Amino acid sequence: MNYLDINKATWDKRTLLHVKSQFYDVDSFIHGQSSLNDIEINQLGDVEGKDLLHLQCHFGLDSLSLARLGANVTGVDLSSTAIHEATTLNGQLGLNATFVCDDVCHFGDTNTQQFDVVYTSYGVLCWLPDLTHWARGIVNALKCGGEFHLVEFHTFNDLLSGYSYFPKSEPDIEEETTYTENCDGQVSKVITWPHSLSSVISALINSGLIIELFEEHAYSPYDCFDGLKLVAEKRYQMQHKGQQVPLIYAIKARKP
Ligand SMILES: C[S@@+](CC[C@H](N)C(=O)[O-])C[C@H]1O[C@@H](n2cnc3c(N)ncnc32)[C@H](O)[C@@H]1O
Repeated sequence: MNYLDINKATWDKRTLLHVKSQFYDVDSFIHGQSSLNDIEINQLGDVEGKDLLHLQCHFGLDSLSLARLGANVTGVDLSSTAIHEATTLNGQLGLNATFVCDDVCHFGDTNTQQFDVVYTSYGVLCWLPDLTHWARGIVNALKCGGEFHLVEFHTFNDLLSGYSYFPKSEPDIEEETTYTENCDGQVSKVITWPHSLSSVISALINSGLIIELFEEHAYSPYDCFDGLKLVAEKRYQMQHKGQQVPLIYAIKARKP
């Protein structure tokens, strides 16, 4: 079994828990609540009428929130269960997003459509062994002048949790529970790779993108790590030796 099969099986299992979790709160979403946070809302700006590719879209809440804002959304994810759930929600809500089940790198190699915006967020890069390949797919999917937006968990927290900060040739292979409150101790195998900030930024620069924004935030909108403290609505913070830990970073880059 290769890493894609193992991670797909895990995300298929996780999705079935996630759609029923308070963490994702699908019921509120169906009744009109957006799943997007201030960081990406402010960074993405007005998406109305834009062709938007959402990579690693999970079961589609963010994709469909963007569709509600008027974007023409295509969501891509490895998990067929997640894509099935996203497609079902799209139909139930009468939205016009399209969902594709694929590995992001394979999608990047085979996709011929070009988009105004490519977006990906919160827990995406660790699943990818090769950011050069990933970044090439992003550039190929963008129109000239198009924007790429990444909002990702900061690797600093991984380091404090005992993972490598720097890229390694071998992945981490572990049995893990998922991050939603209803996981009930169930574990499944995950295969992940660490990516330092410089490796992410270099992959984007080397692909030809121009970086226009790089931000770090001392909070996470999600309660998904040990040791987080709620300080305001959708703001969880963590301290290390009395200092704030950077928990999120965000990058905006443009195809010239
Ligand atoms: C933590 S979730 C993304 C979170 C998302 N922002 C959300 O909460 O709605 C990670 C997603 O990446 C997907 N994924 C993992 N490896 C992938 C790959 N190689 N290609 C495409 N999707 C992948 C998983 O199936 C999962 O849906």
